[in-house]
Order: sequence, then structure tokens, then C-alpha cells
Amino acid sequence: MKRVIAIVLCVIVIMPSLDAQDFKMNHFIKALMQKMTIEEKLGQLNLPSSGDFVTGNAASSDIAKKIVAGKVGGIFNIKSLAKIKEVQKLAIEKSRLKIPLMFGMDVIHGYETVFPIPLGLSCTWDMNLIERSARIAANEASSDGINWTFSPMVDISRDPRWGRVSEGNGEDPFLGAQIAKAMVKGYQGDDLSKNNTIMSCVKHYALYGAVEAGRDYNTTDMSRVRMFNEYLMPYKAAVDAGVGSIMTSFNEVDGVPATANKWLLTDVLKKQWGFKGLVVSDYTGINEMVAHGIGNLQTVAARALMAGLDMDMVGEGLLTTTEQSLKDGKVTMARIDEACRKILEAKYKLGLFEDPYRYCDENRAKSEIYSISNRNEARSIAAQSFVLLKNQHQLLPIKKSGTVALLGPLADNAENMGGTWSVAANLSKSVSLKTGLNEVLGDKVKILYAKGSNLDDDSAFEKRAGMFGKSFKRDNRSAEEMISEALIIANKADVIIAALGESAEMSGESSSRTNIEIPQSQKNLLKALIKTGKPVVLVLFTGRPLALQWEQENVPAILNVWFGGSEAPYAIADVLFGDVNPSGKLSTTFPQNVGQVPLYYNHKNTGRPLTGNWFQKFQSNYIDISNEPVYPFGFGLSYSSFSYSEITLSSKKVKGNQDLTATITITNNSKIDGKEVAQLYIRDIVGSITRPVKELKGFQKINLAAGESKTVSFKITTDDLKFYNYELKYDWEPGEFQIMIGTNSNDVKMAIVNWEK
Ligand code: BGC
Repeated sequence: MKRVIAIVLCVIVIMPSLDAQDFKMNHFIKALMQKMTIEEKLGQLNLPSSGDFVTGNAASSDIAKKIVAGKVGGIFNIKSLAKIKEVQKLAIEKSRLKIPLMFGMDVIHGYETVFPIPLGLSCTWDMNLIERSARIAANEASSDGINWTFSPMVDISRDPRWGRVSEGNGEDPFLGAQIAKAMVKGYQGDDLSKNNTIMSCVKHYALYGAVEAGRDYNTTDMSRVRMFNEYLMPYKAAVDAGVGSIMTSFNEVDGVPATANKWLLTDVLKKQWGFKGLVVSDYTGINEMVAHGIGNLQTVAARALMAGLDMDMVGEGLLTTTEQSLKDGKVTMARIDEACRKILEAKYKLGLFEDPYRYCDENRAKSEIYSISNRNEARSIAAQSFVLLKNQHQLLPIKKSGTVALLGPLADNAENMGGTWSVAANLSKSVSLKTGLNEVLGDKVKILYAKGSNLDDDSAFEKRAGMFGKSFKRDNRSAEEMISEALIIANKADVIIAALGESAEMSGESSSRTNIEIPQSQKNLLKALIKTGKPVVLVLFTGRPLALQWEQENVPAILNVWFGGSEAPYAIADVLFGDVNPSGKLSTTFPQNVGQVPLYYNHKNTGRPLTGNWFQKFQSNYIDISNEPVYPFGFGLSYSSFSYSEITLSSKKVKGNQDLTATITITNNSKIDGKEVAQLYIRDIVGSITRPVKELKGFQKINLAAGESKTVSFKITTDDLKFYNYELKYDWEPGEFQIMIGTNSNDVKMAIVNWEK
């Protein structure tokens, strides 16, 4: 009773104060907007990139003139506290209304302390760690002048050809939604006006991960049932978590580019989901709609604005054409006002009207950025993002003694460790795997090194794959010479570590591939190393799922380390030599070859599912390879070995809104303490529309000491059974459900429940 009274009192006390805050903000913004000319209002919608601030003299640059004229709302990707202050000063001291600027940046997986690429981070399946990584990134960025990040990227993708799979959280809507929430919470905290929280921008709304043929910026087309059930969930989760802004995607949705898609931006986002924040385009997203073929710049800008877009990144389409559109009756003053208000509200919530320099604190910058404690956390998080794909005869962990041959183009390349989209990273501070191993192992292990091969035989390809200061310093010797040198070293060692795979920039934006294997030059090296008969550990660097059929069949141990960030080399040493037991689980399926793409665990059954072994004529399979992946979603080994009991259900028949509890006992059968991610999947056996063969509905990451058993319970409610039906109504349907729990999406125990209305 006391508790109830306390809650009621809290509500009574908190509610008016929230309203009062909103009231104060509305009052302030209304008064400000009354003073604004239409040019100044449109100026707020303008978001140029840092441009000549980075190189030139800030105060006399072209953007500076626009700032003074009130024609800029914010700027992004300036990394310099001094410059940010200088620029803010222009707005505050020289512009008529002294409206502060917002400063955005692509703080995607860390600031100077770089965390694993998002795809890697998602493999931790640990929401606290993920939130923590965003919190640290916000701490660092906010002390360096940044108050807005274009993250998280939550585009579901089932296509490893698409380079931007590296920036997302994999193929699953449920996992993606949990991560979206954790990231937003990490960046924004519980109060945006604090000087160490920043506004998050979820992107790219919507469906960007479903571009045809995995080619970046390409067309997207899918049914609404699929959109709502599979692709939109993570964006919605970010909105529900209170994300301050959302970025539209480059692709079209239903034949209309997302940036001008009224159904997407207004009907779904604002009306159905109740999004109250600001909607920003992607880089020149408005202008690009001219090439999409829906009109000239004035037309597309007007369409974007009237569809619900508030802010124009880089292209200045809104700034330069909207007044004319107003005269022509193509846009309304009400919509211009609303867009302007959204941007002013964001600034207000960030506390910029109170103190425009709130995020510029040299002292904080000195102590926060790339601090030892941040780097230590990043090292631990990186180690937990690695996925052990194979470990024949417990080859790993390697003993801390003897001689190791460290070979491959990624073995001594510091710049590539952080991965793609680490714009704030200080590459001069990064270390290579070779340096990391030497530092961690000291003189306990003798490390011999040779490059062994170039990243790729084709030097032009290698150049494209080594952009943004991440070059591979090409070796001009022949491939044979490089392999011979590597073999001499390999023959002197007890264990071979082959550091191979992709470069950082082989994934990321505009880095789509049609061949998703390890480049041939490196495969040739790997084959030669295997032939020595020495134990070979493949340390695999990649920003996407690769086709690893040959490697799975021939290499004794494979540790997938993605791109683990600034501390990756140390974290790799920690895992390879047993200081950390790997616990990462894949958030995407690894296919046998690119021809199987898209291959994902939560597919539909079809009318002719493969029953029995491959191959069956007139069933849904291929004549050349089976339907199986090399590694399924949720897969990842440990140095421990775990076993699962059968599932116990609290009841086999459940009615209406009763709960169900599914319980399982997991045992660590090894002599090593470890972590396991228990995964809950549900299959709705009969539906009014076809339902996936299984869908992730829960997971728990648990610690299990050597020999220990733990009981893990999942509470299941009708919320877990809901889906968007043919009428796009979100509801559950009675009937039989398979409840599955296991160590990955393929390897599960199963029980059946009957759930009546
Ligand atoms: C990317 C966005 C990014 C923006 C700003 C675009 O090219 O698609 O993800 O936030 O650039 O750098």
C-alpha cells in the first residue's frame, strides 16, 4: 500500500514538472520563432558538413558567412574542439538571433577509443556492454564539442555482399531492437542536457539493408507484412527508447525514395509510432532524388519537406528552393515552422540555449578521451565480440611458451584494426597485432613474422580497399617469394597464426562485394601453411559474413575477430592465449557461397521444404550444394563446452493472457569457466499468414564456472507471439507453438505449447 501511495505521489509530482518543462520550452521556442524571418527558419533546416573548416580559416569560409547570416542549423564531422568553439562563437556573437549550432558526427563505434564495428559488437549479445560502449563514446565525443551522433545504424541485412552489414547488428529484428534500445540509452542517458550525453540519430530509415543485389544505394522493394514483421522493428525500438532524431535512407520504399516518402515519415513514424524528434536526410539525400527521377531540385525538396523531413544534410535543397515553393503553393508555412521547431527543440533539449559551449570542455577532453580506463573497457568488450568458429582438438588457447609464426597481411597493419567508420580515431595511436601480441606476451613467447601475401593480388583492388589512410603498403615481391619467406618462418614455429581476411575498408559504405571469400592471394598463403602440417590458427578479420566452406573443412582453428577497434590487438592476444574465454555468437548467418544469399535462419517454410537429406527432386533445394549455412545465426564456440537439458514448460496448455515459463538447465562440462548465450526461439506453427520456421524471442548470457550447472528460465507472454497480420494489425493467434531453446539457431531443444485465446 505504502508503495502504491509513493508511486502515485511520484506521478503527481513528476507529471506537472515534465509538463512544466515542455511548457517552458514551447514558450521559449514560440517567442524565438516569432522573431525569425523565413530565411532564418530555413537556415535552421540546413546541415552542411565541416567542409573548409577542417582545412581553411573558419571565420572567413563560405559556411562561416552563412552562419553569420543565420543560414545554418548545425554542422557535422568537425573534429577539433578549438574549431567547434570558433564556429559556435560565430553563431552566438555574429548572427542576428544568436541561435547556437548543433555539432554532429558519425560516432559509430566509439570516438578515439574505438570499439568493435557494430556487427562485431552485436555478437556480444550483451546489452550492458553495448550500452556501455555508447556511453563511453558519448563521454568522449561530448567533451570534444560533439552533441549529436549519427548512430545507431539498425538496418537489418541478410546480404553479406552489402558492405554496410558491418555497421549494423545483423539479420535479426529482435536482437536488432534490443541493441537499438541499448545504444540510444547509452548515448542519450536520461537527460540530454547533461554535458556528457549526446543526441542519438537512428538510421537509415528505412529498409536500407535490403538493397537489391547487395549493391549500395540500390533499389529496395518488399511487402508491408515483411517490413513490419522483419525490418522496421529496430527503428521502432529506437523511437520507443526516445531517440532524439532519425535519418532517412538513400533507397526507395514502395517506389518513392525514403526521403520524400510521406507514408514512411508521417503516417508510420510520426502518427503511428508517435515520434516527436527531428528527421534528417542522409548526405545529399534530397538532391539525389533528382537522379531517382521524381523531379527537379525544387520539386524533390518540397516533396521531402511535405513528407515530414525536417533537416537537409549537405545538399542545401531546402535552403535554396523552399521560398519559391512556398510562393508556388507546393509547401506550407505550417510545415516549415514545424521543421524549424523540431531543430530548435533538439537544441533546447541539449541545453544549448542555456550554454552554447556546454560540450566544449578542454579539461574533460583531456581526461575523458582515449583514457586508460576507456581503453581497458574497450579491450574487454572487443574480446567478447570475437566468435570462435572452430577449435579442433582444443588447439586454442595457445600456450604462453615456445615459438609462434605470425603471418599474413593483417598481422602487422595497425591502421586497419579499428575497422570502417571510425572517423574520430587517431590512427597514429593504433597498434598492430604484432605489437599487441609482443606487448601482452613479453618474452614468454617468441614471435616470428612475415607478411606472407598482399591483401589481394590485384594492386588496384588493394588501393580501393585501403582508403582513408588504411593502406597496406604493398609488397612488390612476387606472391611465390612472399609465400616462401612465410614458409621458412612457419617451419620454425610451434603454432602458426594466420592473420587474414578483409581490410577495414572492404566493408562499410560503398564497399559492396560480389565475391565474399577471403581474397585469393591470402587463400593461397593459407593453403601453403596448412600443407606444412603445423597447427594453424586463422585469425579472421572481416566486416561481413564470409563464405568459409574451405576454411571450415581445412583449418583446425578459426577465431573471427571482425574489426575489434583501437584495442583489438590486445584483445586478440587475450583470447588466443587464454586470458579470456571467447563467448561471442554470430548475429548473421555465414553462407557456403554467395549463391545462397540471402540466407537467414528465420526464413519461411515454403510449400516444398526440404524433408530429409539433401538432395530431393522437387523440393526447395539446390542441385549443387545443400541449403545449410557454414555457421548458423547464434553460433559461437567457447573454450568451455556446454550441454543443455530438455525443456520444462510450466504448462503444456495456456489460456488467454496467462504466462508460460520455459526452463532449461545448462551445464559447463569443461574445466574452464565460461559464458554462454542461451537463445529462445518460437515457431507459430499455423497462422493466418505464413510464419517463420523460428524467431528469436529472448536470450540470456550467463556465466558458468567449470563444472557448474545453472537453470535458465524464460517467461513467455502473448506479447512474444504477436506479429503483424495481413491487415497489418499487431496481434497473436491461438494454436500450437514450438518453444525452442539452444546454443545457436540450429541446435535447439524443443517443446510444444498449446495457447488458447
Ligand atoms: C552515410 C551516413 C552518415 C552520413 C554522414 C552518409 O554517406 O550514409 O550513414 O551518417 O554520410 O557522414
